[in-house]
Amino acid sequence: MRTRRSLIDLSDLAAGEIDEIFERTKYFESTRPSRSLEDVACVNMFFEHSTRTMTSFTLAEQRLGANVITIWPSQSSLAKGETIEDTAITLGAMGIQVLVIRHPEDGFPARVALAFDGHVVNAGDGTHAHPTQALLDLYTLREEFGELNGRTVAIVGDVEHSRVARSSVHGLQALGADVVLVGPAGFLASDFMPGKARIERDFDAVLRVADAVVVLRIQRERFATMPLSNDEYVARYQLNGKRLKTMRPHAIVMHPGPYNRGVEIDESVLEFAGWRYAKQVMHGVGIRMAVLDFLVNRDRAVAR
Ligand code: NCD
Repeated sequence: MRTRRSLIDLSDLAAGEIDEIFERTKYFESTRPSRSLEDVACVNMFFEHSTRTMTSFTLAEQRLGANVITIWPSQSSLAKGETIEDTAITLGAMGIQVLVIRHPEDGFPARVALAFDGHVVNAGDGTHAHPTQALLDLYTLREEFGELNGRTVAIVGDVEHSRVARSSVHGLQALGADVVLVGPAGFLASDFMPGKARIERDFDAVLRVADAVVVLRIQRERFATMPLSNDEYVARYQLNGKRLKTMRPHAIVMHPGPYNRGVEIDESVLEFAGWRYAKQVMHGVGIRMAVLDFLVNRDRAVAR
């Protein structure tokens, strides 16, 4: 029986466990580097481009004292025809205990978790899930507002192709926030995650009531044709200086990154007092330390 826990999506965590990870995050952000992953070997395998997620997982592992190995998929034996399952078996036999994986296919990390005798952490799979990004977004919101009950969080833009949005909706719901999804029909079907979030088309109306707005990138690598013209998108959904002025005085703006200036946001957002992007990125390291420590050391305690 497989005993080691993986993190494929937020549904793998009970609400109390999310709090447990947040407590660990706070601890790791306020203390010197810990050695709680000393002698634990971690492999990072990213089959898709990444800057923030890859760097922060690497930093998190290093700060916990782990042995960190990066495998570039195109330079690995996968290029010689080895399957990912056989790669996972091979790494497990070498004593690798943690595999952090990003892949364009939905369900890929879950498939690897079936073959790998260790912890798999999903660093983003297709449009399916991105649990550590959702956790760091939730953490940033909690830091800002405390409890999220009664708070309205809007997620705006290309929701359809966003794994961040899917994971965040689960997490926000679990923590009691009201979630509003906003976008044109081509980026947000009217039956998207039914029962979990309200769907709105009018960004201006939502901006007047939201406590937090999460802006998404148009994920052009995931579809062939734009469902509306660039100009139309910008006119209806770009967060710009004029729209910022209509927001509630305490409201904040978040973005998982990478952001595209001139598309989903204009330059004035980067100067806005409520822009929390840097905080999100900063918490990304602590959250990933907490997740790794939670998976590995809880498991160790159980195994003893
Ligand atoms: C996101 C991703 O890869 O899903 N980025 C990230 O991890 N911070 C969002 C995106 O690529 O737009």
